[in-house]
Amino acid sequence: MLAVARAKINLFLGVGERRADGYHDLDTIMTAIDRADILDISLAPRPKLAVQPEDLPPGQTLPEGSDNLVWRAAELLGGKDRGWRITLYKTIPMGAGLGGGSSDAAVVLQVLAGLWKLENADLEALAAQLGSDVPFFLRSGAVRATGRGDLLEPMGPLPTMHAVVAVPDVQVSTAEAYSWLDAAGDRPRRSSDPFQAALRSGDPATIAAAVWNDFEPVVTARVPAIGALREKLLEKGAMGAALTGSGSGVYGFFPTPDEATSVAFSLKREGIWAVYAATAASPTDFGRDPMASGSGLVG
Ligand code: C5P
Repeated sequence: MLAVARAKINLFLGVGERRADGYHDLDTIMTAIDRADILDISLAPRPKLAVQPEDLPPGQTLPEGSDNLVWRAAELLGGKDRGWRITLYKTIPMGAGLGGGSSDAAVVLQVLAGLWKLENADLEALAAQLGSDVPFFLRSGAVRATGRGDLLEPMGPLPTMHAVVAVPDVQVSTAEAYSWLDAAGDRPRRSSDPFQAALRSGDPATIAAAVWNDFEPVVTARVPAIGALREKLLEKGAMGAALTGSGSGVYGFFPTPDEATSVAFSLKREGIWAVYAATAASPTDFGRDPMASGSGLVG
């Protein structure tokens, strides 16, 4: 069965205090975008994972075998005795704040729970064990996440917005980015209320102008290429631009699909990995039979 695992971007990301458990309190608003990994999932005698890069920035190393969150998701749901076979076609860059690994894991939970008929499995709880932003990928629409990122509330519909996602040739470790924030000492805290008000306006330009990410100052100070890429999106006419997650990916919103497509193209001509991706209502889309659909997605 072919399943689609979309990427996410953080429209607003506020980081609060470091907690006793080592995690930080978050206040973030995320949406899925139309950039997706494709997973081909079936039952098999033994666990088997193949990972294939499709269109990624140079120098990305793909976690194979049990190092991959996909493997851990299948094992957490089904134990060591159940077999499965997954081919993971990667188009979402890693270490970029786009949630690709988390999205893959969420899809594996959903699809294998269906194939194994585990109707009573608590997928949200299993998702939270796999990573702070895995539960988001079981939801739809714009979602606010608080706590360590696993307490979710729907934020209502988001108008379709036209993003260019650009990723420099560098990966940022999430844990390291949090430690940079801790080392930065006192920071002004920003409430998500103004962003939520922008969201309620339903106006893409207003929403784009309100995007915010607390990681930006520390991450761009350590990796200037990331800040430069965000500036470049604004120079090329973005209505608003921000880091996603802890980076290294940045996005900018453009008024139309054509503008976003041509900006992504011009960045590519400069040797920068960039794609046009619209915001999407649902992070996952699964249940396709490759033989029935004949989609040729994964030739
Ligand atoms: O939950 P996840 O495994 O994705 O988190 C990776 C790392 O990011 C954690 O080990 C922790 O250092 C940091 N983190 C954090 N606060 C959060 C989420 C993640 O400090 N809310």
